[in-house]
Amino acid sequence: MRTVREVAALREAVAALRADGAPVGLVPTMGALHAGHLALMAAARAGGAKVVASIFVNPKQFGPSEDLARYPRREIADARMLAEAGCDLLWAPSVEAMYPDGFATTVGVAGIADTLDGAARPGHFDGVATVVLKLLNQVRPDRALFGEKDWQQLQVVRRMAVDLDLGIEIACVPTQREDDGLALSSRNIYLTAEERTYAVALPRALGVAARRIARGDEPADVLAEAHETLVGAGFQVDYVALVNAETLASPPEPGRPRRLLAAARLGSTRLIDNIGIQ
Ligand code: PAF
Repeated sequence: MRTVREVAALREAVAALRADGAPVGLVPTMGALHAGHLALMAAARAGGAKVVASIFVNPKQFGPSEDLARYPRREIADARMLAEAGCDLLWAPSVEAMYPDGFATTVGVAGIADTLDGAARPGHFDGVATVVLKLLNQVRPDRALFGEKDWQQLQVVRRMAVDLDLGIEIACVPTQREDDGLALSSRNIYLTAEERTYAVALPRALGVAARRIARGDEPADVLAEAHETLVGAGFQVDYVALVNAETLASPPEPGRPRRLLAAARLGSTRLIDNIGIQ
């Protein structure tokens, strides 16, 4: 697996990958890879596609008081994992290569990016949309793969890809979980051993709430109880919300697919999770 760090080298390497006519899949990451990323890799390889993975800790999607400085960076171990997972090319630009002096463009996806995590983390999805559009333009893949764990991000990227006629398939892979149900995340390493035991309350509370809403219990009561359960487990809750799965409108219109999304902090670690309503 080759690693490239400049756009010109990337373009040449992707052209070489395409030489035998194979489609190209992109797996965008911020590194600190885990089994969730490997599931994206496996999906990207389907149908004999060549796979480009990117590792870029994108400063534009972190707020001023967020964890940019301490976000785990371990490119050597990540590169080994990617090579073993069949990655053909690693795109690992520096911040200067991604955002050269004079860089002045921000991509905003109105509405869908302003709610939930967009409200809790102002500017976050502008940073995500800006870097994802750059990555898609740099690699020009046939498909790009995203995890369902970042459900709102997935919908923001899908909206952007449709609105801007990118002609790139935005595909997704179900959330990968620990045995007890905690969603895999690069940020789980921030949890202390004690916090880790409480963290499982998040997927459990969402699971209980989703089952109750599916059987017809009043959503407002169910959401309030899920909130209370999380507070009881030591979380500071940013939101527990029932939304239209695609537009994230709340409350969701009757008859449309629904999803429960939550974000909550345990100590200094912010966890997010989501679940579909059957
Ligand atoms: O989900 C992530 O790891 C990041 O938000 C992404 C999509 C790589 C953009 O920086």
